[in-house]
Amino acid sequence: MYRNHTCGELRETHINKEVLLSGWVHKLRDKGFVVWVDLRDRYGITQLVFDEERSDASLLEKARSLGREYVIQIKGKVIERTSKNPNLPTGDVEVLVSEITILNEALLPPFTIENKTDGGDDLRMKYRYLDIRRNPVKDSLIFRSRVTMEVRKYLSEQGFIEVETPYLIKSTPEGARDFVVPSRMNEGQFYALPQSPQTFKQLLMVGGLDKYFQIVKCFRDEDLRADRQPEFTQIDCEMSFVEQEDILNAFEGLVRHLLKTIHNIESGPFPRLTYDEAMRRYGSDKPDIRFGMEFGELNAIAQHRDFQVFNSAELVVGIAVPGGATYSRKEIDALVNWVKRPQVGAKGMVYVKCNEDGSYKSSVDKFYTAEDLSSWAEATGAKAGDLICILSGETDVTRNQLSALRMELAERLGLRKTDEFAPLWVLDFPLLEFDPETARYHAMHHPFTSPKPGQMELLETDPAAVRANAYDLVLNGNEIGGGSIRIHDKETQATMFKHLGFSEEEARAQFGFLMDAFQYGAPPHGGIAFGLDRLVAILGGQETIRDFIAFPKNNSGRDVMIDAPAPIDKAQLKELNLKLDL
Ligand code: AMO
Repeated sequence: MYRNHTCGELRETHINKEVLLSGWVHKLRDKGFVVWVDLRDRYGITQLVFDEERSDASLLEKARSLGREYVIQIKGKVIERTSKNPNLPTGDVEVLVSEITILNEALLPPFTIENKTDGGDDLRMKYRYLDIRRNPVKDSLIFRSRVTMEVRKYLSEQGFIEVETPYLIKSTPEGARDFVVPSRMNEGQFYALPQSPQTFKQLLMVGGLDKYFQIVKCFRDEDLRADRQPEFTQIDCEMSFVEQEDILNAFEGLVRHLLKTIHNIESGPFPRLTYDEAMRRYGSDKPDIRFGMEFGELNAIAQHRDFQVFNSAELVVGIAVPGGATYSRKEIDALVNWVKRPQVGAKGMVYVKCNEDGSYKSSVDKFYTAEDLSSWAEATGAKAGDLICILSGETDVTRNQLSALRMELAERLGLRKTDEFAPLWVLDFPLLEFDPETARYHAMHHPFTSPKPGQMELLETDPAAVRANAYDLVLNGNEIGGGSIRIHDKETQATMFKHLGFSEEEARAQFGFLMDAFQYGAPPHGGIAFGLDRLVAILGGQETIRDFIAFPKNNSGRDVMIDAPAPIDKAQLKELNLKLDL
């Protein structure tokens, strides 16, 4: 037996008990006549003590020889500590060791195994197994496991069946590039790893399974960001005989269950915004509604003077920054420079200080009266003491820029509180999105999404105006889930493929199996998928999903620990009929 207690377990009630513990040497303090060793495992830290009075000399010698991160087993008696450590759950006691076995020696770790470590990102990723020993990473993985269990529990209780779908498949269009796998047995042919199990879950509905879920890896070859990994996990769900309202209710229930069980937060019905409203009020289809700073559109009250920048703009729009009237010239200049950074791309920013005494001071005093400025304050909801920041230009671009500024300011002002959760549904997404690069319309969600009833005809005349039965669940400014009611008949699906620029042959070659299936009694169906990594990170009060993934990839899609991707040898290439020097 290696242990009969964990290192996080011992309390005053255990005093005088003989115990066996196993774990890692966290720290060693040698005061000459006494040696203390902090022994660590997943559950906590227990202090071990060796001293000249009570331990024999060889034992003391052995204790002194221990290195950091050695794996040891000890036998000893729990005793009361003379100086207690109130910061440690086991801090009232220590173990007077009578036997010690070194189970494994360890090299000196390349960074300290502490909550705040001296290891940089790259080093920590290279030695991720050591990083996982640190509390913040370990706790994040335990937290993920808890959330995942709750998801499984809730969905199973609601009658969802967990079904696994294959990984070696054919391209599923979710808007990213595919990762492909060469087939040895089928020369020159490739599988694609699923960007999502989208088509399979629809086929499960044709198969009559009615309520499906799967906690599933998805693979997307796209540029990486803090909230994106090339392989990530979805909570993928689909239901039959449902309308949008049924889906919203079912999955609002899931998120409510998680908020309740994980954070003991009772939440009322989630707010709902249409896509158009979200864009107008927040400049984003994933608005953070934990704080105000809503957009105020100023066209009608800012384009009547001689200020050409505004007069020539499609949109003039501002936000009120709470308490911003006291910003110094330097601070405002810094904000202007911030919006001019290439990542944001604004040409400039107009500001109005709404002073406490009711006066206004703006960067456009030459053009506007105090009355004008006062009407802007009203439109943006700015109060005395606030600063109004105004951007102008082409509508979509300007909204995007102001949204970036809104999020940045909220972050700086501490308004994005990590223990506050503000979920909402964004509904009625456009069905199609114009891609200037290819000069084509793409499905904004995916090509299986149904248009709102009665909008099929609009596809011919005004494709951009068609709205879809598609919805996103947004939490604290992050898209954590998205789904839609699907097309379930062959004709509509064929029309949709046509509008997306697929020839009949292409549609047949890529999705013939789905269109065929639709002819065998496909029920009306719809679903949603949540990004589990994102959901867990946000519930955990963070936005970087990497910390909640045991072995994540870095920003270039590399696993620096196992050093992948890597070349393969000639024999393997040959076996796969791959020639690299094309
Ligand atoms: P969608 O593409 O919106 O929908 O994906 C669903 C959710 O998955 C998460 N997500 C990601 N998380 C981490 N890294 C990524 N690279 C990444 N890409 C997406 C997001 C997103 O909301 N088949 C549809 C769902 C459906 O229609 O039912 C789909 O995959 O949180």
